[in-house]
This record gives sequence, structure tokens and C-alpha cells, in this order.
Amino acid sequence: MKKIISTVLFLSVCLLTSTQILSATHVVASPDGKLKVSITDQGGQLMYRVDKGNKAIIDPSILGMRFAAQHGFDADLVITESKTTSRDQTWEQPWGERRFIADKHNELWLSIQRNKPQLKFEIAVKVFNDGLGFRYQVPQQDELSEVLITEELTEFNMDENADAWWIPARKWNRYEYLYKKTKVNEIEMVHTPVTMKLTSGIHVSLHEAALLNYAGMSIEHRRGNNLVANLAPRPEGGLVMLTTPFVTPWRTIQVSDDAVGLVNSDLILNLNEPNKIGDVSWFKPGKYVGLWWHQHINERTWGHDGIHAATTEATIDMMDFAAKYGFDGVLVEGWNIGWDGDWYNNGDVFSFTETYDDFDIKDVAEYGRKVGVKLIGHHETSGNLTNYENQIDAGFTLYEKNDVAIVKTGYVADGGKLKRIDKEGIARYEFHDGQYNIGHHIRVLEKAAKHKIAINAHEPVKGTGLRRTYPNWVSREGARGQEFNAWAVPPNGPNHVSDLVYTRMLSGPMDYTAGAFDLRPSERPPVNEQMGRHDKRSRIEHTLAKELSLYVTIYSPIQMVMDLPENYEARPDAFQFIQDVPTDWSESVALSGEVGEYLVIARQDRNSSDWYLAAHTNAQTRTLTADLAFLGKNKNGVDQNSEWEAQIYRDGSKADYDTNPYDIVIERKTVTPKDSLSFNLGRSGGAVVRFVRR
Ligand code: NOJ
Ligand code: CA
Repeated sequence: MKKIISTVLFLSVCLLTSTQILSATHVVASPDGKLKVSITDQGGQLMYRVDKGNKAIIDPSILGMRFAAQHGFDADLVITESKTTSRDQTWEQPWGERRFIADKHNELWLSIQRNKPQLKFEIAVKVFNDGLGFRYQVPQQDELSEVLITEELTEFNMDENADAWWIPARKWNRYEYLYKKTKVNEIEMVHTPVTMKLTSGIHVSLHEAALLNYAGMSIEHRRGNNLVANLAPRPEGGLVMLTTPFVTPWRTIQVSDDAVGLVNSDLILNLNEPNKIGDVSWFKPGKYVGLWWHQHINERTWGHDGIHAATTEATIDMMDFAAKYGFDGVLVEGWNIGWDGDWYNNGDVFSFTETYDDFDIKDVAEYGRKVGVKLIGHHETSGNLTNYENQIDAGFTLYEKNDVAIVKTGYVADGGKLKRIDKEGIARYEFHDGQYNIGHHIRVLEKAAKHKIAINAHEPVKGTGLRRTYPNWVSREGARGQEFNAWAVPPNGPNHVSDLVYTRMLSGPMDYTAGAFDLRPSERPPVNEQMGRHDKRSRIEHTLAKELSLYVTIYSPIQMVMDLPENYEARPDAFQFIQDVPTDWSESVALSGEVGEYLVIARQDRNSSDWYLAAHTNAQTRTLTADLAFLGKNKNGVDQNSEWEAQIYRDGSKADYDTNPYDIVIERKTVTPKDSLSFNLGRSGGAVVRFVRR
């Protein structure tokens, strides 16, 4: 292994004052030798570059940071020590896209000194076959005990003005935007993951891993193809307040020969620490229904002052529906005091323990026990972090008593407007990816774990693989989800999911809330005049088969079955797929795809030998073919002659999201791993197959 890592001393001599100082270039390569990271301190500045084979990916780019009260790591730098190590291990996920994850990488560690004044920091770089991560490590030292970071200098100086897919950062709607495709030099201030395609076909995605006690990194374009880190600010000034020793999150660069290589990469998880909260076998992946879509399509209200959705009776009805079709939970939103009036701005008055008089949590839990369905909890904070933190123990205690094992949290406040009250009683307003809120999420997870509760955060900070360390962080929103199709103009549209799978989904599970069976809810007759319905342009611009495919293409260990029961019962044949599809996988293989265009992916159920295959396309019709070789290589061994029943749900010949979205063909075929299946997908269409071993 040591042979693969070449730490090269590059003896270029430069004159600094009157002393001769040796500048050094250290190189570390991936285990397959293809990806190479070089770091140099030439000229007293720390720079790195990334090459894949003979192709430059990232040209020399600055590393470093600046502080408010001390000199920064930005000049007079010299690498004083280096060390290389390797790892080749496999670890097991309690739940996930795959059960076993290979962590095979080479690591370079450098100690760097600033000479005048003397300050020290370190860089760790881990290079995998599918990308790399590096982070700053600042040891404890007298001159730097408390620091306020005012700038992180990390650059990503792209070698090429590649195509890039991104959503804007630091805007009012947090992460809930449609993706834009531009050239690198037209990137604005953007969230990560930001994904790029080079002319060679190589795909690169910039993101971060293990975002803990730091501020989220956005990416900003500067001149040429240069992208730079831009951290979310603190309301009191500066970016991040820390005491040494500390480490930053990993700055990650996924590099793949094709688009699906990004989807198949485990880099982000590999750069997170192992499980810190112990046994999580109490968390069961599964599917849930809810009193949720009702509110979004103006069928019922969150508040008690309208047609209240969250009544004991309605919850019990939903529990019956869940039990009948084998779903595990019922999400109820609007059961607690605080929803009346303008709930978006009600963060100060939400109670997490007091129910409205038409909702009896004990009765509901007791009924759930009888029929084997659990209540899924809901804590909407409307962005008041302090109000929530003050009640969180009581809130989780109440839920635990009533068998709640998953809580959906919510932070609907505009970007930069999460409220917290500081020690002096001053209201401070935070970004969703600001340092304080990152700590808030962790506090919530730790408290929840004590009550054996898993968290599904909406309006969260982006995922950075912390589900490995805190496996009760089971899902999150953090992108435009189904709700936009209820009330937004424009809705998510035909292209959104094809963008999501190569961008947002690289950061981890998403609670997209799939399963719309009535694709035009705004056309339902209004419940009453006052409620009305939303603009007719708000609709689901997918075919029915594409909506089914989301259960496989958009990974989450908990999946919502979001539509009204009557809409499912009107189409029992297609509904069968939602009852069958699992949410926990032993293996996942993205087979083909292009960013923003399409995806074909196969996953094997973790609890049976069944495989699932899903395909979807954007607004273009497309014929997609999947080689079924994966059926031969499953966890029960290799069997090329095995026979499988393929239960197929695909677009019919006239399927089209706009003109004929319900045209679906449901058929069965016998196949073997030597076969392939082709699908003719309509505009914004899809297909999904369950393979059952014969
Ligand atoms: C926004 C969430 O994304 C949605 O799912 C929820 O219903 C509302 N907030 C209310 O909490
Ligand atoms: Ca949302």
C-alpha cells in the first residue's frame, strides 16, 4: 500500500528573507492510482490540485482561513511534517441504500506552520477511488485558543468551464428551489452538493461531510472558473466561533467517469464518524400515511379554527387505512396548540405538549396499539429554536409515552430568520446552515435518541452524512418536495426529480413524500367557498408510473404514502406497488443516467431476495433499457439461470404527464439475469419493476 502513496519531496528552492527554505509538494493518490491530490506550500501559501489520470480536474487552489483577532493561515506557511496511512475496511449500516460499505482510501496528513507569528494547523486528505475529502485541523495552542473565523479561503479552481447544476444559497426559501443548469462561470452563491459535468464526461460534485460545530459551506463564483467556499454568517458577526482544538467539516470532491458513479458513491458517509448513539434497532424503516396532504390541498386545516384535520376520529380512520394496507405509521400535523391564525409566523406560541380539544393523544395511541400502527409525531417550530428547545424534553417525553418512534420536525422560517434568544435575552436570527442551527439539530437528535425517537427534519440544514454518526437522523426534506405540487406556481415540473437524484440526493435520504394518485388536486371541487382550491397550475407533472418510481429512485428509509385514501382505493392495481415496495435495501446500483435527464436504478430489498428496478425521464420521451445481470449477483450467491417474476408497472404507449398521465400498463413476465428490459417512457414518465424469485 505504501508504494501507492507517493509522498514526493519536490525540491524547488525559493528565497524568503535571507534564509533558504525548501518548499514541498506532497502527493497522495486513490487506491486505484487514478485520482491524485497534490499539496504545496510554494511561496508561503498552501495550495492543492486534483488530477484524474492525465486530466486536471481542479487547478491550483488556495487553502487556509482567517480570524478576527489573530493572524490567519494565509501567508508565511511551511509544511513541516507529513504522514501517510491507508485503510481498507467494510462497515455495516443499520439501514440504508446498502448494508455494507467499503471504506478504502489513502490518507495524507500534513502539519503546517505559520512562521511569523508561529501558529500551527494541519490538513488531512483522504483519497478514495470515487473522490476525496480534506479538512483543516487546528490543534490547541496559546496564540489560538478562541477564534472567530472571518473567512475560509478554500478554493475549487475548476480546470474547465463545465456545465453545473445548482440551487441558490442564503435566499429566503432555504433549499427549496428548482435547479438551474449554467456554466461554472455563471454560478451564483450556491448550496452544495453542486454537480458539474466536464467535456470529457467526468462528473464532479462539490459538497461537505460531517458538518458539526461549524457553519455550512456555500460555494461562490469568483473570476474565471474559480469557486470559493463561503460560510453562513453568525448574527453577532463573523462566521464561526470555536475554541481549539477543532476540526472543520470535510470539503468533498466526488469524481466519477459518469453521472451514475456519483449516485453509487459512498464518499460522504465514509467521511463521517461511526455511530455515536449506540443501538438503534428500535428504529424500523417503513412507510407512513398521514393527515398532511389534506392541509396542503385545502381539504382541511392545520388550525382548529377551520376544518381541523388533526382530530381523534380522523386519526383513527387513518390508522384503520394504514393497518388495512400494511403501513407502519400515521403522521398527524396540527394536533398541538399554536396552529390557529398565521402559523408560519407562530413560532413563539407553539406548544409541544398541549393538544387541541378534539385530539386525544392517549386514545389515538391506544387505538394504534390495537391495530399495530404508530402515530408519527410532528414538531413544527416555525423557526423559533428557543421556544422549541425550552419544551423539547417534555415534547419527546409525551411522544415516547404514546409510542411515537419517529418525529417530523419543521423549521418554516425564511432563510436567516431562525429565532433564538441569547443569554442576554437578545433575539438573534440565524441561517438554517449557520453554526448555531447545526448545533441545534445535534441537540435534538441526542435528546430524541434518549427517548428512542428518530428524526425527519423539514426545512433542515443539508445532509452531510451525519446519519452514520446519528443513525436516528433518518430523513429530511431540504429540497423542493411534493408539497410544492399542491400550491406552488410553478410546481416541481417534469425535470426536477432528474435534477434531484444527481445533486440533493448525494447528500442523503430525502422525505420527498411520493405517491400522488390524483395528479390534479387543484381541480377537486372546493370543500367550501372559504377554503377554495389552489391555482390549477399547481399539479403533479409526472405520469402515474413515474410517481411510483420515486419510491425507488429517491431514497429514504421512511417513505410517505401521501395521497388521500380514496385516491388509492380508486386504483388498487397501481396501489399494490406502494404496498409491496420496501424502504430498506441491502444493495443499490444506479445503472445508467444523465444529470437532469434520466435515471435507471436497481435496489435489493434488505429483508427478502426481491429486487426492484426503477426508471424515470424528464420532459423528454425516452426508451431506456436495463440489463438484468444484477439479478444474478445477489446476496444469496451468483445464479445466472435463476428465474424471476417481473411485476412491471410502466407508462402506457400514450402516457404523457400533460395529456395522459394515468396511462399505465401493469403486467407480469418471467425473466432471468441474462435478459434485459426496455421501457418506452412518455414525457415525464417512468417505470418500476418488482422481481420476485420463482
Ligand atoms: C413545511 C413542511 O415541508 C411540510 O411538510 C409541513 O406540512 C408544513 N411545513 C407544516 O409544518
Ligand atoms: Ca418544506
